[in-house]
Amino acid sequence: MSAPAGPTTGVPGSAQLPPLRWWQIPQLVELERRLFPGDSPWSAEMFWSELAAGHHYVVHHLGGDPAAPIDGYAGLAGQPDEAEVQTIGVHPDSQGRGLGRALLADLLRQAGDRRVLLEVRTDNEPAIRLYESVGFVRIGLRRNYYRPSGADAYTMHRPAR
Ligand SMILES: CC(C)(COP(=O)(O)OP(=O)(O)OC[C@H]1O[C@@H](n2cnc3c(N)ncnc32)[C@H](O)[C@@H]1OP(=O)(O)O)[C@@H](O)C(=O)NCCC(=O)NCCS
Repeated sequence: MSAPAGPTTGVPGSAQLPPLRWWQIPQLVELERRLFPGDSPWSAEMFWSELAAGHHYVVHHLGGDPAAPIDGYAGLAGQPDEAEVQTIGVHPDSQGRGLGRALLADLLRQAGDRRVLLEVRTDNEPAIRLYESVGFVRIGLRRNYYRPSGADAYTMHRPAR
């Protein structure tokens, strides 16, 4: 996807994020390639599987305009007793304006009182800070977790409430 033109405006409250629709999957694949170039970005098939499994996915459109390109997305998988952040991404031109926080807030609202788990690259300072700011703590280290980069991951969780 080409870079969205202009700044993101109207970063939403988490109640306002629309669900991912199947026809938007190609946009997410492009964003994944851009955001995770060395770490096996998700394919269309993987997003299809997520939707087929009924996992919770939300998107944000540039400027809050439903006709504009998607500039943020996030997904949560869930079991009865715990949930897992599957992915969260914000287009580089829209980062640093509160959108990542809004996407994560939506996932946490969906998770409710359940424990929430995630993996994050140990060198991904922006994401780690975001997660810690909403109560996630590091509980483990997974070496060579990401492919093909071989980067390590922290496992983090937000305890059940
Ligand atoms: C991680 C990511 C989703 C954050 O999205 P964002 O819209 O830029 O984040 P926000 O503007 O909502 O910022 C939320 C918090 O993240 C942290 N943060 C964001 N950018 C940061 C940076 N460059 N350095 C340090 N902390 C940063 C801060 O704690 C920030 O809170 P603050 O603004 O109150 O200081 C975004 O950087 C991204 O898409 N990165 C690439 C994909 C990725 O790594 N996803 C996570 C995989 S586990």
